[in-house]
Amino acid sequence: MKERMNQCSQWLLERFPISDLWNEHMAHYYAPKNFNIWYFFGSLALFVLVNQFITGILLTMNYKPDAKLAFDSVEYIMRDVNWGWLVRYMHSTGASAFFIVVYLHMFRGLVYGSFKQPRELIWIFGMLIFVCLMAEAFMGYLLPWGQMSYWGAQVIISLFSAIPVVGDELSLWIRGDYVVSDATLNRFFAFHVIAVPLVLLILVFLHIVALHEVGSNNPDGIEIKENLNWKGHPLDGIPFHPYYTVKDIVGVGVFMFFFAVVIFYVPEMGGFFLEHANFIPADPLKTPEHIAPVWYFTPFYAILRAVPDKFAGVIAMGGAIVVLFMLPWLDRSPVKSIRYRGGIFKKAVLLFVIAFIGLGYLGTQPATPGATTVARLLTAVYFGFFLLMPLYTRWEKTKPVPERLTEQRTLEDRIPEIKALIGEVVSVETTPGMTGATVVKRKPNWPGVKAVLIRFAINLKKSLD
Ligand code: HEM
Repeated sequence: MKERMNQCSQWLLERFPISDLWNEHMAHYYAPKNFNIWYFFGSLALFVLVNQFITGILLTMNYKPDAKLAFDSVEYIMRDVNWGWLVRYMHSTGASAFFIVVYLHMFRGLVYGSFKQPRELIWIFGMLIFVCLMAEAFMGYLLPWGQMSYWGAQVIISLFSAIPVVGDELSLWIRGDYVVSDATLNRFFAFHVIAVPLVLLILVFLHIVALHEVGSNNPDGIEIKENLNWKGHPLDGIPFHPYYTVKDIVGVGVFMFFFAVVIFYVPEMGGFFLEHANFIPADPLKTPEHIAPVWYFTPFYAILRAVPDKFAGVIAMGGAIVVLFMLPWLDRSPVKSIRYRGGIFKKAVLLFVIAFIGLGYLGTQPATPGATTVARLLTAVYFGFFLLMPLYTRWEKTKPVPERLTEQRTLEDRIPEIKALIGEVVSVETTPGMTGATVVKRKPNWPGVKAVLIRFAINLKKSLD
């Protein structure tokens, strides 16, 4: 049997470079030793991508892309298809999780300067992924054919009509009808299920190829390829497999815990992940009182509404995304990581985060005059962060960057710490059982959990200092 297996693997290896690929991208791919919590989000994005593909395929088996049947087919999946509710919630929660993970992944890139030379192309591919992800989510949201699906699509597609000269024709072309209709649903289904996922897959492949060509950045922003040992391996690097495969599995485990809590206890997330109005079938004759996109679009939606002119609003909203593409050329700092930058950059990042979250909140609220004024101010901060970047990053004084990584510990070195942490958050009680055997009861130790959470917040802050 063993002989046969060896022959089979030999047969395969002679025809396909599977072990070369594995070595190049896993076992002999040297990654910096000092990856921290921020480095979980790339592998988590991959994980969520796979979740979306699998659950999406399962949903397609019972979904009907027909304006007369779509809403009912989703209800049928929720009520009658075996485990249909779970698959649907995994897909809808997965959409929001995707954006949470990707926003944190982008934030990591921003603070550690991972978009800077020589990683500009990784960032550009990442941004293209982000645009595709937004298109994918937007088109997917039409499919349940609820009130918010219908009116959200109506509002967003009609934005194109603000473009001078070609606008009306363009929005008609996108919809395939004068209003959002069955034709729109069918084409959105085709894009959501086939076209965009295919482009996403290709872009993720290119993103990782580009990353493996230049190598990963790290929290210190130091190029580890500049210090090699006698074998030509980076002194500050460790093989991706097994060190980071093991670390990433821990990240996936923690992620799955939170993911499961949402799916089983708060799948609609109070209307943030699945809006309440979307549980009412689409009615082209009845506009909902308050139309708001899902939370991950709301910062951009708030920018759109903050501008009084419709066309200028569309330009501002598009500009908010285009400016992100230009980040590698806007930042003129001689250092990459926030750790060695001056105070101005740190304060600018803080203001940017406040503006982004603030806009996100305002995008969910009705546009009262007061809210619009605040949204205008935050829009100015958003654009100011990027457009003034060439100035403040060039002028500000930076700290000297060390030659070697400052943190040299690996996951292996942390094992005693992890064991102590588990001991801190779990209390163990032993009592004699009826049969004489000892009964072990494990319970959360709340003071320990609190202490760990406080330490976690302090360490998170330190990861940026
Ligand atoms: C489907 C979405 C995405 C997937 C699956 C993905 C996957 C990955 C993976 C696996 C890595 C290496 C591990 C890591 O550094 O965390 C990575 C690195 C990176 N990604 Fe993404 N990514 C996605 C979206 C994005 C987006 C939207 C951006 C930004 C616009 C981006 C920018 C970067 C950068 C700059 C790096 C290099 C980080 C470094 O070396 O410090 N990615 N990505």
